[in-house]
Amino acid sequence: MYTIAVLISGSGSNLQALFDAQDAGQIGSAEVCLVVSDRADAYGLQRALGRGVATAHVPLPAASKGPAREASRAAWEQRLASVIATFTPDLVVLAGFMRILSPAFLQHFPGRVINQHPALLPADGGDTVTTSAGLTIPALRGAHVVPDALSRGLPVTGCTIHRVTPRVDDGPILAQAEVPILPDDSENSLHERIKVEERRLIVQVVHNLAAGR
Ligand code: GRF
Repeated sequence: MYTIAVLISGSGSNLQALFDAQDAGQIGSAEVCLVVSDRADAYGLQRALGRGVATAHVPLPAASKGPAREASRAAWEQRLASVIATFTPDLVVLAGFMRILSPAFLQHFPGRVINQHPALLPADGGDTVTTSAGLTIPALRGAHVVPDALSRGLPVTGCTIHRVTPRVDDGPILAQAEVPILPDDSENSLHERIKVEERRLIVQVVHNLAAGR
């Protein structure tokens, strides 16, 4: 058995793709053993509860300032790591988890945390990406990359699944897909097309990792 903890903050459609793949026998012996959210209203928690999969809500404490903020954030990460470690997962998947995790968290699961990012990232950690058509576009990082792709007038964007390292939105790439931006795209229509690719890729990546590839 290859066990996966999935961290979410929202709808959890990528989590659902993993559940569906599990049911269809598409990810071998891989199984989601735990779903964790920083938000109580994340619909993905309901998806997990409906299947009898363990869930945890680990809320970020209300924002304080200065050193108190850092201490409470570190304590939150420690609680998060403790909950996940209880399940000794082989893999931790950040599937729309909208919080940045520090090196202290990553040390609990060395080389075992992967992230989905709804934009193309370069393999060299640089500031640009070369598309399959040979076009150089900016590497979009952060929490607003779908509207960023639209506001910058890019012809193409995409999604990336990568191993998580201390550098945010960076790390060895496991899978990537391009998504063309259409003239009448809204943030929602573009994000939905990106998510179609993300759901396909997360299943493929989990399948490969569970098979030891
Ligand atoms: C995905 O686009 C992921 O890349 C981003 O948040 C979205 C999560 O979607 N970080 P869902 O909650 O799996 O539907």
